[in-house]
Amino acid sequence: MKRVFVETYGCQMNVVDSETLMAILVAAGGFAAASSVAEADVVLLNTCSIRDNAEQRIWHRLDELGALKKRRKGLVIGLVGCMAERLREEILEQRPAVDIIAGPDAYRSLPELLRQAESGARGINTELSKEETYAEISPVRLDSNGVSAFVAIMRGCDNFCSYCVVPYTRGRERSRDPETILHEVGELFEAGYREVTLLGQNVNSYSFGSVDFPELLRRVAEVSPLLRVRFATSHPKDMSDRLLEAMAVLPNICRAIHLPAQSGSNRMLDKMNRKYTREWYLGRIAAIRRAMPDAAISTDIIAGFCGETPEDHADTMSLMREVGYEFAFMFKYSERPDTVAARTLPDDVPDVVKTARLAEIIALQNELSLASNRRDVGREFEILVEGTSRRSDEKVFGRTSQNKVVVIPRIGLDGQPHKPGDYVRVRVTDCSSATLQGEEI
Ligand code: SAH
Ligand code: SF4
Ligand code: F3S
Repeated sequence: MKRVFVETYGCQMNVVDSETLMAILVAAGGFAAASSVAEADVVLLNTCSIRDNAEQRIWHRLDELGALKKRRKGLVIGLVGCMAERLREEILEQRPAVDIIAGPDAYRSLPELLRQAESGARGINTELSKEETYAEISPVRLDSNGVSAFVAIMRGCDNFCSYCVVPYTRGRERSRDPETILHEVGELFEAGYREVTLLGQNVNSYSFGSVDFPELLRRVAEVSPLLRVRFATSHPKDMSDRLLEAMAVLPNICRAIHLPAQSGSNRMLDKMNRKYTREWYLGRIAAIRRAMPDAAISTDIIAGFCGETPEDHADTMSLMREVGYEFAFMFKYSERPDTVAARTLPDDVPDVVKTARLAEIIALQNELSLASNRRDVGREFEILVEGTSRRSDEKVFGRTSQNKVVVIPRIGLDGQPHKPGDYVRVRVTDCSSATLQGEEI
């Protein structure tokens, strides 16, 4: 029996991919999940290429594992995921310790690649597929809290935002058979899970036969009223009124919409190939607020994209204020080789300027998050308990439908401790910019 440890980097899709490839290995026979590098015969790094610093981390990690391999003869090292897809040649040349390389669509061949590695040959497969969705495979839930799980419903991306590497590392967009999705969600609910997050790079463009995303969402939500349903990430261009209507009538679809804007400047949005304008984006925000006045809205922002002027940056800041985001992921632009931006647009904003603009964006978001949390003080919510608070064993935490974390005393009004998977009605009593404090009511 070979014990396999997967170290996961990057986005939520990689988390579910690690669970999927583990299911493939376990089903093949002869492999089991290890819980640390120390007890593993095989270490797989599931990697990310989204920004340069994500790749730098992996190069360093490969050096560490290479050193470990010198001491532990027979240790097998594999590189999988987006960086394996993008840099296979460079890795083969520069890291002799790497035994196998598999791209995101090649996980079914992992048992075979590992057998090749055992016989001394390097196992390599970075072929992308137009069809692969790992549809019938139920992931082995690694590191799970037993309450919430990710469910991949589509793979790849056809949007080709000019800065982004994902369409190259993950290939063309394809959707998974809805029957297999519903089967997996049903199994999760039976196993005690109370929250699923439907995942895709562009989840709201899901389409399989006659089933589009609003229809899929409705079917998943109908698995049980006790199952919370989330999804990520949505592209603004596919945030249709039909989708908002489907959400509004189903209370177990969470009131949290992640709708990355990237920039508030029309000039930048055009260069980014985002396919919408600031005005159009704000129109979608207004539609969300009409359909679900209590929805939380979050975003991704890129600071210092090619040719970004102080005015463009000011447009981003004003967009953030205008929407009043609950939460944001914020990044400095990092040029990715071979993307349209890298080929045609100079990366001309100096790093110090990118850093300064990002700091302003982060400071503004902290202000907006705090203001949003202050508005919640005194309000009542239902939270789904996930686990023990990091700060205190006497407290547990859960999330509101809006995806905000609320910390409450462990012992409930009935004298019994709250358990992961419990729904608890709470009133918010206090807050910081990151969390809410509450009490059961
Ligand atoms: N498909 C999703 C998420 C893609 S990656 C979407 O379109 O929203 C997550 C985020 O990383 C992106 O939204 C973007 O904000 C950021 N990102 C992507 N490429 C980047 C780059 N080259 N430099 C900096 N940030 C980048
Ligand atoms: Fe990248 Fe754009 Fe696709 Fe998101 S929608 S994965 S940012 S190309
Ligand atoms: Fe990274 Fe690939 Fe996800 S580049 S963000 S792991 S799709």
